[in-house]
Amino acid sequence: MRIGIIVHSKTGKTLALAQLIEKRLKKQNHGVTLHRLSTDPDIDAPNKPFRIVNPPDITQYDALLIGGPVWAFSASPVTISYIKSLTKLGGKKVIPFATMGFFCACLGGTRALKQMSSAAEANGAAVLPGIVVPTLLRDHEALADEAADTIAALFG
Ligand SMILES: Cc1cc2nc3c(=O)[nH]c(=O)nc-3n(C[C@H](O)[C@H](O)[C@H](O)COP(=O)(O)O)c2cc1C
Repeated sequence: MRIGIIVHSKTGKTLALAQLIEKRLKKQNHGVTLHRLSTDPDIDAPNKPFRIVNPPDITQYDALLIGGPVWAFSASPVTISYIKSLTKLGGKKVIPFATMGFFCACLGGTRALKQMSSAAEANGAAVLPGIVVPTLLRDHEALADEAADTIAALFG
């Protein structure tokens, strides 16, 4: 399967998770391309104006993994803006993923996944359950590993 991983990552944590997922999926012989979204200006908080300067063309992909950090108990505005720009998803599989600082998904992670899923569904995607990984816990690397396994399992 041809899979696009599109990630917004300000400080590199969601990017690291995306790279882990990329490695797992490549091991399963999928064609995987990772794209990191950049904005102008390079924002570091929500409620600031921005433009995504490098939105990838996703027509070639059978499935998309779209991820970003949780910001202020919500999905990153960059991720949401990117998903909203994908107006013709026509049944394409989309799996949202997020990283967050706090230990409990109840502090923004669950909400972020819901926001990303709703935006993708509104544009015609077949959304699969996503994953959220806390990045401040001592065992965050093990949690990231587990999350990457969960996603890889979706692609058998
Ligand atoms: C502006 C801002 C708001 C944040 N808000 C939250 C939040 O509401 N809940 C949370 O758990 N983490 C929050 N965080 C922490 C990030 O979600 C966390 O560090 C994430 O892993 C960073 O991902 P990145 O390195 O890919 O940018 C926030 C970080 C920033 C910069």
